[in-house]
Amino acid sequence: MTGTDGVPADAARGGPPPGGPGPEIVAADPGTGRAAQAAPPLLEVRAVGKTFGGVIALRDVSTRVCQGEVTCVLGDNGAGKSTLIKILSGMHAPDSGEYLLDGAPAAFTSPRDAMDQGIATVYQDLAMIPLMSVWRNFFLGSEPVLGRGPLRRFDVAGARRVVREELRSMGIDIRDVDQPMGTLSGGERQSVAIARAVHFGARVLILDEPTSALGVKQAGVVLRYIAQARDRGLGVVFITHNPHHAYPIGDRFLLLNRGTSLGEYGKAGITREELTSLMAGGTELERLAHELDRGEPPGPAYP
Ligand SMILES: Nc1ncnc2c1ncn2[C@@H]1O[C@H](COP(=O)(O)OP(=O)(O)O)[C@@H](O)[C@H]1O
Ligand SMILES: [Mg+2]
Repeated sequence: MTGTDGVPADAARGGPPPGGPGPEIVAADPGTGRAAQAAPPLLEVRAVGKTFGGVIALRDVSTRVCQGEVTCVLGDNGAGKSTLIKILSGMHAPDSGEYLLDGAPAAFTSPRDAMDQGIATVYQDLAMIPLMSVWRNFFLGSEPVLGRGPLRRFDVAGARRVVREELRSMGIDIRDVDQPMGTLSGGERQSVAIARAVHFGARVLILDEPTSALGVKQAGVVLRYIAQARDRGLGVVFITHNPHHAYPIGDRFLLLNRGTSLGEYGKAGITREELTSLMAGGTELERLAHELDRGEPPGPAYP
């Protein structure tokens, strides 16, 4: 089954809980019968800001990423989405605001430092080498080795096996892990990057516009892998300017416009239509649609 936009509905995990919006549900501890203490978010930013020279790229933005949830960051070009994820991924230190990891204040010295703490980022350009094989790209920078000292060598057979198993366990069907990365489709490359982050122990997976360059079908494939990563318990940050990609998979939605937050909504607190019209340009697009509609003759064009 597909939605109106062609994105497979099964990439989503159903809608809001029956009974509509309500207080956050806290599971009861079966041992004590008491409500279990809710875990802090894996990652949280409070009122972060960032300026570049005189340009305010981000001001007063707050959001959180929880285990087994997808936080969507939406906004038009220049909204500050990439700046926010660069803060989350340890590439930029925020000029103001707080960054909390597992509920405690955190500051990273580099993206590597953030990665060591389980925060993996898949950038738009993917940082992969097209002429290198899929399995070599998978282990780029983290090659498995056999032996010690002068006998140390790259465990090629082991690497191939791990990549095959990891891709299979995520349901990614790649004919041959020896083929050059560049021969994969855009959706397959994103999927390999997601499987790689999962394999290397990411707890938070940050994806910068993984579906924006893809057609409807390929975007659906990537959304499925995002759902898989979520179902394995990762917290996912999914950046997109497409509300039709975000809505089926998102648990919370942060809307950015020119560096400021238009609000953060839980799934139960917003409809797909509201999300679409809240997006920068939403009202303009509606006006444009009406304008373009005017010339249409009444009734079906092709009876
Ligand atoms: N390194 C930088 N130096 C100067 N300005 C920047 C830099 N990075 C981003 N900006 C500015 O910050 C604003 C937000 O950019 P960005 O976060 O890339 O938005 P988005 O990813 O939503 O398109 C833009 O006006 C952009 O020009
Ligand atoms: Mg961007």
